[in-house]
Amino acid sequence: MLSYRHGYHAGNPADVFKHSVLVTLVRAMQAKPRGILFIDTHAGAGGYQLDSEIALKTAEFRAGIGALWHASDLDPIRADYLDQVRSCNPDGQLRHYPGSPELVRNLLRREDRLVLCDLHPAEQATLRERFGKDRQVRVISGDGYAALRGLLPPPGGRGLVLIDPSWELKDEAARLEAAMQQALRRFAHGVYAIWYPLIEGRDIDLQALPQRLGLGPEQWLDLCIRFPQEQRLGRMFASGMAIINCPYRLRQTLVDWHSTLR
Ligand SMILES: C[S@@+](CC[C@H](N)C(=O)[O-])C[C@H]1O[C@@H](n2cnc3c(N)ncnc32)[C@H](O)[C@@H]1O
Repeated sequence: MLSYRHGYHAGNPADVFKHSVLVTLVRAMQAKPRGILFIDTHAGAGGYQLDSEIALKTAEFRAGIGALWHASDLDPIRADYLDQVRSCNPDGQLRHYPGSPELVRNLLRREDRLVLCDLHPAEQATLRERFGKDRQVRVISGDGYAALRGLLPPPGGRGLVLIDPSWELKDEAARLEAAMQQALRRFAHGVYAIWYPLIEGRDIDLQALPQRLGLGPEQWLDLCIRFPQEQRLGRMFASGMAIINCPYRLRQTLVDWHSTLR
């Protein structure tokens, strides 16, 4: 049984980076009118109360969204992300943090759809409570990698898949690779965003993945950030988003933005 609960970590510096990239990817894909299928294979609970016991226990959000909350001079990517989080806190007090499901849901157009999967029963229940009646959202209880097989290719031919595992299992990288092999066979030109942590004493290395998946250099974009000492999250000293088939116009924007963060 997996024990990870994202509520302990919601809004931390890794989330800020991951969700800034996610919002930008959604926007870039929505520059074209055709509907998009968004798939969140490891969705978590969807959104989190930052004044809850679980969030306050680690208070990781303070170094993440907490540190940005009053910022007024951000680059356009983080400013857009921050606007999205602010819109979930209309009274101006930071109490609620939207997870990837809520962020993407809030950006959906009428022609877009969102599929959410999670393996943890408590997160599944919360996802159903939040999104069960939403006609644009489908919640699938179970293994996100297995669900992905049945969801691709998307009916309209456009899709963004967020793969955001908890990395609790030693063979997570192998599972991810096997899922990506299958996904790319079914939907070769899909956009995939994979979140990964770099953890002291643990070898999580996606460097060989593009070659093993048969991807060309232009199909792979790896954005990794190291946390300053005061933002380190236990043994996690860096985290990244690896993007497969990044929308062409966004690629250089992300590369330039990423270089300003280091
Ligand atoms: C990092 S959290 C997700 C956070 C969420 N994507 C966000 O950004 O708000 C990882 C989630 O993956 C779930 N999980 C772990 N293994 C899974 C699997 N094989 N399939 C689906 N969900 C899984 C965990 O229960 C946990 O809720």
